[in-house]
Amino acid sequence: DWTMAAFREQAVEEIRAKVGDGKVICGLSGGVDSSVAAVLIHEAIGDQLTCIFVDHGLLRMNEADEVVAMFRDHYNIPLVHVQAQDTFIDALEGEMDPEVKRKTIGRLFIETFEAEAKKIGGADFLAQGTLYPDVIESVSFTGGPSVTIKSHHNVGGLPERMNMQLVEPLRELFKDEVRLLGHELGLPAHFVGRQPFPGPGLAIRCPGGVTREKLDILRQADAIYLDEIRKAGLYDAIWQAFAVLLPVQTVGVMGDGRTYEFVCALRAVTSVDGMTADFYHYDMDFLGNTATRIINEVRGINRVVYDVTSKPPGTIEWE
Ligand code: XMP
Repeated sequence: DWTMAAFREQAVEEIRAKVGDGKVICGLSGGVDSSVAAVLIHEAIGDQLTCIFVDHGLLRMNEADEVVAMFRDHYNIPLVHVQAQDTFIDALEGEMDPEVKRKTIGRLFIETFEAEAKKIGGADFLAQGTLYPDVIESVSFTGGPSVTIKSHHNVGGLPERMNMQLVEPLRELFKDEVRLLGHELGLPAHFVGRQPFPGPGLAIRCPGGVTREKLDILRQADAIYLDEIRKAGLYDAIWQAFAVLLPVQTVGVMGDGRTYEFVCALRAVTSVDGMTADFYHYDMDFLGNTATRIINEVRGINRVVYDVTSKPPGTIEWE
């Protein structure tokens, strides 16, 4: 794509001009955005870049291993893998308020980066995969007064004391353009085609309080759901699909016994840029079969519901 080839060339020049011989750290989330940003910046400045991947314990099944394998082994990009699960989950325990959860995660991310940056002898720049919709959605809701809908943890600047400048080469791009750029940079198609995953991870898919046990249940249900989507050949037709573990237990029956377990909500939407979205119209058999598998295979869930809310009035994530 000629547009993206030109963008790439210009972005590389701009990154070099801005960074000079400074050191950059890049927060890698495992998603397309930060990965594309990292590969682009690595192309511009090579080993002046160190990626920091924070495992906050809020990732999906096998996600951490996949990210580390890809960056360290495939791209040879210097990568620090931070095991910070306890820090994040302990800090979230008992917290019910969605904005407090988001802000807690955002703050811990910054603190973790700061600590890691110190360990590698400091950095002058912090790189992030911030996209255009992230920038505007954090500021105001389209068409409305200036109201914060959600605080995206990767937007909003850094504490003064960090003394690092931001490098955000994707700040003017939409998601589809980032995918084109990733393709242009030679990232594998299956990786570039990954559905978006929010920085606060599974924490915002556990409304009503995060615990290790709930995260574990959610992770299993989510993996089964995505497995069924892939097997049905639907992955690329859907912008984002994920499970949400509701803080509600309901009565069920299994064999001769009564069960009293959590409800799992399934979400799937189509969208162009994440700013608006329509719920995905599955075949009912697909939903029924997926629900059966989740209930049979995941201990702790005995009921599955499907979310038929579009955006607006809903948002894509539940928190
Ligand atoms: P909402 O829920 O606001 O989500 O309709 C729109 C898109 O943004 C993703 N999202 C985030 N991405 N940090 C991110 O990097 C965040 O804090 C965050 N919150 C939501 C969401 O998954 C959807 O693709």
